[in-house]
Amino acid sequence: MTTKSLFETLNPPVRLLMGPGPINAYPRVHQAISGALIGQYDPVMTGYMNQVQSLYRDLLETDNQQTMLVDGTARAGIEAVLVSVLQPGDKVLIPVMGRFGHLLCEIAQRVGAVVRTIDIEWGEVCPPELVEQAIKEFKPKMLATVQGDTSTTMNQPLAELGEICDRHDVLFYCDATASIAGNDLKVDEWKLDAVSAGLQKCLGGPSGSAPMTLSDKCAEVINKRKHIEAGIKADHHTSGSEAAINSNYFDLAMIMDYWGPERLNHHTEATSMLYAARECARIFLEEGSTNVVARHKQAGDAMAAGLQAMGLTLFGNQAYKMNNVVGVYIPDGVNGEQIREELLLAFGIEIGTSFGPLHGKIWRIGTMGFNARQDCVLTTLAALESILLKYKANISPGQAVTTAMKFYSI
Ligand SMILES: Cc1ncc(COP(=O)(O)O)c(C=O)c1O
Repeated sequence: MTTKSLFETLNPPVRLLMGPGPINAYPRVHQAISGALIGQYDPVMTGYMNQVQSLYRDLLETDNQQTMLVDGTARAGIEAVLVSVLQPGDKVLIPVMGRFGHLLCEIAQRVGAVVRTIDIEWGEVCPPELVEQAIKEFKPKMLATVQGDTSTTMNQPLAELGEICDRHDVLFYCDATASIAGNDLKVDEWKLDAVSAGLQKCLGGPSGSAPMTLSDKCAEVINKRKHIEAGIKADHHTSGSEAAINSNYFDLAMIMDYWGPERLNHHTEATSMLYAARECARIFLEEGSTNVVARHKQAGDAMAAGLQAMGLTLFGNQAYKMNNVVGVYIPDGVNGEQIREELLLAFGIEIGTSFGPLHGKIWRIGTMGFNARQDCVLTTLAALESILLKYKANISPGQAVTTAMKFYSI
């Protein structure tokens, strides 16, 4: 077969990504990705893997030995935890407050777990009393929750849930993809047993790597299911006492061995994504956790205040809003998709739509990672205002940018 076209040289437009993620990566992350490829057992590479483990322990505020990357997008991290911990028939409790709570249910159901949900109105978070009551009745093996559900922009408080799980001896897992690095996340203090995330939001990298951590207790549960592949299994390897994990790629028992001292082969670590994850963590730790979260809060508050000053209404219970993304009702009389398209084509700015019951009702505007900056906030507000005025939306012109500027000293 002859090649019909080679198409053009790849030259994607430079956009300002102000949606719920992905966002523009830090320039240093782009530089890191372009580093030379090396072999997976090159001591330099295994050294980088050890460094990544150490960096993410610091970033996640944990001493967990089992801190590593799952190769794949954030969903890969979620699936790895759920398939590795939950055996068919195991019970899992899941508060559902938005699309990503449904995703946890979907994955757990496919794993064969028995799922019980606590259904919360979108725009609210789950009260701890409901979790404790459900744990007492249902006696799950695991509580699986989302910290920042990007679909609603709400941030679930976790500390009390950790206490409850600890008291009832329930494993506590959290998907922190959208909240990590923009909101506090204290893995050990909040007694989390498993956390997974992605790079493409406040960590300021591309999607494609899922940092994750497991408590010793959770690692022990998973290692009971360890069954090493034929072809690499040696005499000194022993199998776990419980059923093998129903996935090879997401088998965290094998992935732990790959990242562990034996470096037992599993996949081929995604070198360029490891470089990216390493640089994301270095940027975070250099700036300092408190400063990074404060920068996200400042940008998020400025954006929210600017939108309100324009006369728009914010979505959800603002007491629980994530620092890094805001939901805002699309004003009456305008077509939300047309406004988004024009923002993209005329200004090169992307903002997000939403899912399910919120689709067509709210936009989601993110201020994350590299884009949690004054200039990004002001440019987005100015551009949105001008397009809304063009389409004769009923807004108050001239207020948004000056209001947002009050959050900054210049
Ligand atoms: C809270 C949350 N969890 C999981 C995901 C899935 O991430 P990915 O698309 O990287 O698999 C997302 C993506 O937006 C998310 O916001």
